[in-house]
Amino acid sequence: MRRSRKAQQTQTVLVAGGAGFLGSHLCEALFGSGYRVICVDNFLTGRMENITSLAGQPRFRLIEQDICSPLELGEPVHRIFNLACAASPPRYQADPVHTTRTCVIGTLNLLDLAVRDGARFLQASTSEIYGDPQQHPQREDYLGHVNCTGPRACYDEGKRTAETLCFDYVRADMADIRVARIFNTYGPRMDPADGRIVSNLVMQALEKRPLTIFGDGRQTRSFCYVTDLVEGLLRLMDVEPNPLKPINLGNPGEFTILEVAGLVQELTGTGSTMKFLPLPQDDPRRRRPDIARAKALLGWSPKVPLRQGLLQTVVYFADLDDKAMAPPLMASAKAGASRSTSSSDVGPASVLFTQAEHPSEVLVGIDKQLGEQSRAAEAISQRHRADGGRRNRRVPATSLHHISRMLREPDDDASPTRRGRHHPGTGS
Ligand SMILES: NC(=O)c1ccc[n+]([C@@H]2O[C@H](COP(=O)([O-])OP(=O)(O)OC[C@H]3O[C@@H](n4cnc5c(N)ncnc54)[C@H](O)[C@@H]3O)[C@@H](O)[C@H]2O)c1
Repeated sequence: MRRSRKAQQTQTVLVAGGAGFLGSHLCEALFGSGYRVICVDNFLTGRMENITSLAGQPRFRLIEQDICSPLELGEPVHRIFNLACAASPPRYQADPVHTTRTCVIGTLNLLDLAVRDGARFLQASTSEIYGDPQQHPQREDYLGHVNCTGPRACYDEGKRTAETLCFDYVRADMADIRVARIFNTYGPRMDPADGRIVSNLVMQALEKRPLTIFGDGRQTRSFCYVTDLVEGLLRLMDVEPNPLKPINLGNPGEFTILEVAGLVQELTGTGSTMKFLPLPQDDPRRRRPDIARAKALLGWSPKVPLRQGLLQTVVYFADLDDKAMAPPLMASAKAGASRSTSSSDVGPASVLFTQAEHPSEVLVGIDKQLGEQSRAAEAISQRHRADGGRRNRRVPATSLHHISRMLREPDDDASPTRRGRHHPGTGS
C-alpha cells in the first residue's frame, strides 16, 4: 500500500502542527520514508526539542507560522497533513476563540493550499466530535452528543466544522481529502504539563505526588500508542481509492481511569495515593472506538499493548531533564514572523538559527548531542544507573531504579496488570 521510496523522494509533504506530540512523530516517519517534509507550527503547544532529530536536515524545512494566516510556501506541496490545533483541554480552552479560528480558518487556509497545489489532504479530527457519547463503542456513523455552548465546544465544534469543510470540498470535487477521527493517543513527547490523563498520572507518580482522579475514576478511555496512530495516518493518506468517509483511529482496548492509575503506580513503583476531584464539565463517561472501518479499508489495527506503551512513556518522562519541564514556548502567533532566540529559552537542545531562507522561515541547526531523540529504554536505564539519573532531580532515585528494573523484566503474562484487558485483535 505504501508508495515506493523512489516515488516518495520526489514528493513534498507539509505537516501543520509538526512540532507537536503527534506531528513530530509523523514528520519523522515521513522523513524516514524519503519524503521532503515541511513542518508549519506556531509553537503554541509544540516544542522545538520534539523535532531535534530533523532540524538542519536538507529534506526538512521548519516554518514558524500560525495557520490562521494564509500560507505562502514558495514551493508546491504534494500532500498536507493538518494536525495543527492544541489537543489538551487546558491548552485549547486557554484561548478558545483562537482554537475555533485554528480549526475553521486554519483548516480553510490549508484546504485552499491543497486546491492550489492539487495536493492530497488529511485532516486530524477527533473522537471529541462524538461529545459525551450515547452510543458505545463509537462508530463513524454516530452523529454525536455535543454541547455547543460549553467550555469544550471551541474544540469539539471547531473540529466538527473542520470536518464539514473537508466534506464540502470533497462534494465540490475540489481536492482529495481524508479525515481521521483520532482517539486518545499517548507516548513519548507528550507535553508533561498538558493536563492529559496519561501525562498527569505519570508525572504525578514520578514526582511522588497524589494521583489526581476526576470523578470516581470509573469513567473509561481507550489509549492508542503513538506509533500505531502514525501508522494509521500514513495508511489513510496512502489508501486508494479515497474512502470518502471519516475513519476512526484508536485502540479499542477500554480501561477505567482507576485501572490506568493502578498500572502507572505499578510501572513507576510510586507510593503515591489517589486524590479524587469533581468531574470537569462535559467530561465524557465512556470512550472507545469501533475500528471496523479502519480494519476493512486500511488493513490497520493497533499493536502496542497499554502496558508496553505506558512503560515507554514513563521512561520518556523520567528522562526529561528539569529544563524540559519549563512551559512550552508560546507562539509569537504573528504571521510571517521569523524568530531568533538564544539557546537558553528552548529547553534541552541548544538551538542556533543560522539563516532565514524565506521571510517566514527559520532554519535551525541543533546540537544533536543534547537533544537526540529516540531514547532507547535500555540505554536510559543504563545512564540512570551510571549517573544515578541526576540529570533530573524531580524524580526520586528509587523510582528510576524501579523503572530500570521494570525494563529488564521479561515481558511475560504473569500479573493481571501485565495482562491488562484483552480485546481481540488490539494487542491490549
Ligand atoms: N493526541 C491525541 O490524543 C489526539 C486525539 C484526537 C485528536 N488529536 C488531534 O491531533 C492533532 C495533534 O495533536 P497532538 O496531541 O499532537 O497535540 P499538540 O498540542 O502536541 O500538537 C498540536 C500542534 O499544533 C500547533 N498549533 C496549534 N495551533 C496552531 C496554529 N493556529 N497554527 C500553527 N500551529 C498550531 C501546536 O504548536 C502543536 O505543535 C490535533 O489536531 C488534535 O486535535 C489528537
